[in-house]
Amino acid sequence: MNEQQRELSKQTVPRTGVKKDFSRYFQRPSINDARKRGREDVQVHRDFAIGSSMKNIGRGKTYWIQTYGCQMNEHDSEAMQGIAEELGYAKAGSMQKADLILLNTCAIRENAENKVFGELGRLRKLKLNNPDMLIGVCGCMSQEEKVVNRLMERFQYVDLIFGTHNIHRLPEYLFNALMGKERVVEVWSAEGDIIENMPRRREGSIKGWVNIMYGCDEFCTFCIVPYTRGKERSRMPEDIIAEIRHLQEIGYQEVTLLGQNVNAYGKDFKDRDYTFGDLLSDLNKEDIPRIRFTTSHPRDFDDKTIAALSKRGNLMEYIHLPVQSGNDEVLKQMNRKYTRQSYLQLVKDIKAAIPGVSLTTDIIVGFPGETEEQFQDTLSLVEEVGYEGAFTFIYSPREGTPAAKMKDDVTEAEKKDRLQRLNAVVNKGYKRGSERFLGEVVEVLVEGPSKNNDQVLAGYTRHQKLVNFPGDSSYAGKIAKVRITEAKTWHLLGELVDEHA
Ligand code: SAH
Ligand code: SF4
Ligand code: F3S
Repeated sequence: MNEQQRELSKQTVPRTGVKKDFSRYFQRPSINDARKRGREDVQVHRDFAIGSSMKNIGRGKTYWIQTYGCQMNEHDSEAMQGIAEELGYAKAGSMQKADLILLNTCAIRENAENKVFGELGRLRKLKLNNPDMLIGVCGCMSQEEKVVNRLMERFQYVDLIFGTHNIHRLPEYLFNALMGKERVVEVWSAEGDIIENMPRRREGSIKGWVNIMYGCDEFCTFCIVPYTRGKERSRMPEDIIAEIRHLQEIGYQEVTLLGQNVNAYGKDFKDRDYTFGDLLSDLNKEDIPRIRFTTSHPRDFDDKTIAALSKRGNLMEYIHLPVQSGNDEVLKQMNRKYTRQSYLQLVKDIKAAIPGVSLTTDIIVGFPGETEEQFQDTLSLVEEVGYEGAFTFIYSPREGTPAAKMKDDVTEAEKKDRLQRLNAVVNKGYKRGSERFLGEVVEVLVEGPSKNNDQVLAGYTRHQKLVNFPGDSSYAGKIAKVRITEAKTWHLLGELVDEHA
């Protein structure tokens, strides 16, 4: 967004006396505009700073950020927490007690949106009791025109609305909301630049998220993400490596590289030929003990990436490889740009290069027009690949996406039935994925005591299996060798083999 557009997007809207035409006060987000992929270069900014007049606006106040959706949103919330704390806010003990509540929302399916509107309904009462409380809505739902309209018309007590591209402007929005007592609304339809040095308050001290790219250019026909997150923009490898080195120096044991489609990393670089496989090879030489990544798109998963992963070391033997459907016709209508056969070939290549690799996936049932035979192809593909886990979803139409206009004649009952049948097959895979480790000695990155018993530790293996075993909390943050003694469907039980490995 250039300066002129920024000028145009006025921010504050009076609370009263405004009827339906809000457009003179702010630019509405537009799914149509978000569809456009500009050719202008993405700028990298390293000069994020909070003005001295704003530094203390949160002093004595508390914040609460409620996060919905994917890891990208979790990580964005860590930036918003960092900003809030730099403004003087402290984390509240609960949402009910906070002076500032931000809902960082997800638009991926209708039920994700319903959850947010339900929460906003409950917040109405809190706001009535405490009119000084600020309530903000941000994240992917704010990028949708229809959501912003609904918030403006029916949720007058929402004080702040901003999107995924302008998180770095949060200090200014809070300042204006606190000073002006008016509603602050600013959403950019087009993606912004890359802001490198936002403060972050990370949720954990053992495992951390690291963005490697923003946005998505795949335009799967069912998916809203390319509209809510903008075009693909890769971070410079130097910046990624520096961030990971810093995390390692302060004690982090694992990083997860984040992108909507990590396999497209670097394809937007104009000054160099450097892609995801190169990044993995470079990171393989770093001291951070564990590296994971999410999410992979099968189309862009190339030989260089497979070769890098085959070196193992700090690269884990676990890949989440969303397939969505096992039928070629459905894959074509989804615009996934691979076939059942090419996907199965990729799986074969990965398994050959990384023996014992654990694969998981995402699957949608009930895509518009999906027939029983086409669904059967998905079931057989799940068996053939031997996934050890899957996120399974009923298709949810998203306004503005191509699939939302396709004829959908699969009944609700049929969709639910397919989901159940699919889950039965998927659950067998989870169990098989656990049982294969019975009697084996595995490396577990210990996160701390388990949820239900403080004498028992919990952590994940290289293959991303949850393990519980008896031990004391001094193991937290260390990689322990554990013999697996019992395999449950969702987790493993074990016993320590030796001292800290
Ligand atoms: N960028 C990632 C994640 C996208 S969202 C990827 O490409 O894998 C996570 C999953 O949500 C998708 O893989 C898909 O299975 C599911 N999903 C996306 N849009 C959906 C929709 N409209 N209805 C149902 N499931 C959807
Ligand atoms: Fe959505 Fe497809 Fe992009 Fe994943 S790759 S975020 S499913 S458009
Ligand atoms: Fe949801 Fe946005 Fe992530 S739509 S899945 S929070 S990118």
